[in-house]
Amino acid sequence: MPTQVQTRPEPHTKNFGENIESDLALEFLRVVENAAIESARTMGQGDRPLSDQVATEAMRKTMDTVPMHGTIVIGEGERDDAPMLYIGEQVGGSYPDGREVPHIDIAVDPLEGTNLCATGAPGSITVLAASERGGLLHAPDCYMEKIVVGPSCKNAVELDAPVAVNLKNIARRLHRGVEDLVVMVLDRPRHEKLIADIRKAGARIKLIGDGDLSAGIAAAVIGTGVHAVMGSGGAPEGVITAAAIRCLNGYMQGRLVIDKPELEERIAKMGIKDKKRIYEAEDLAPGKQMIFAATGVTEGALLKGVRFFGEGTRTSSVILTLRTGRVRFIESIHLDKGPDVKVRFA
Ligand code: FBP
Repeated sequence: MPTQVQTRPEPHTKNFGENIESDLALEFLRVVENAAIESARTMGQGDRPLSDQVATEAMRKTMDTVPMHGTIVIGEGERDDAPMLYIGEQVGGSYPDGREVPHIDIAVDPLEGTNLCATGAPGSITVLAASERGGLLHAPDCYMEKIVVGPSCKNAVELDAPVAVNLKNIARRLHRGVEDLVVMVLDRPRHEKLIADIRKAGARIKLIGDGDLSAGIAAAVIGTGVHAVMGSGGAPEGVITAAAIRCLNGYMQGRLVIDKPELEERIAKMGIKDKKRIYEAEDLAPGKQMIFAATGVTEGALLKGVRFFGEGTRTSSVILTLRTGRVRFIESIHLDKGPDVKVRFA
């Protein structure tokens, strides 16, 4: 049954203003934290839909407490298929004093790696990206071929270059041998040749069950032990990755995989003329202002998972902003109980 269209009063809005990154970054922190806490409670229950549902509901609910006029441009699906956080849905709340709220576009993946959460495996996160209107490509729900690397490897890789050449270039930029590199690849039959090529070139591989978005972020941060992500994954995840990559000064290329007639029609309707176009992060997330927020649900290369300690909960998050150039790793302790609660330093 089609979801009922929500009508909401239009709040006072303004363009994505000067201080919006600073105003909203910590608001979006609450959004991803709450989604992570709720979904972490379902860890290991083997119930993917439940894990995704609780993350989506928590994200949706918290979003309505953020003073903004938000439009979901990448979400849980089309309006008829997704009960909330569907593409085109309006989200956000107002300031108590009725001040103008900013108009922004939001891309969400309420639980990236639903399977990882449902099985208790590492690497699931709750994540979103926000920008001014038009700041995020409205990517169709199809695959995207991707290559993601960190700041030292800017322009050193090309989607169409042989894998061995890309790895050689990455190794040179990182002042090490190809055999010292770790490439993250989604463990899928479609990546059989890619995996064989990486092995032949001599690099090490970390095969992941899910979660090429968090893998991409790890590749852009020094010290995570991940030097590149290669292979195809979701295009929506590609756009959110691009938002983070811009904030982290990393580099990525992506190309939509348009392999069905219905996708051809879909992209034509979206105004995408060149289906073979190679996008860089700036094309996928072109906004001038950008907020990227993610919280770890299960343990990952970059973020710790949610930890419940009886009297409260600890979460590890990263908040990135583009124009203001902030990379914040935030460890939050959410106290549930009375004044006698004990807080541990680490
Ligand atoms: P979910 O967020 O739906 O769990 O997706 C996880 C994921 O592994 C993404 O990280 C990746 O981009 C995509 O699925 C890959 O799709 P597929 O599982 O079809 O290969």
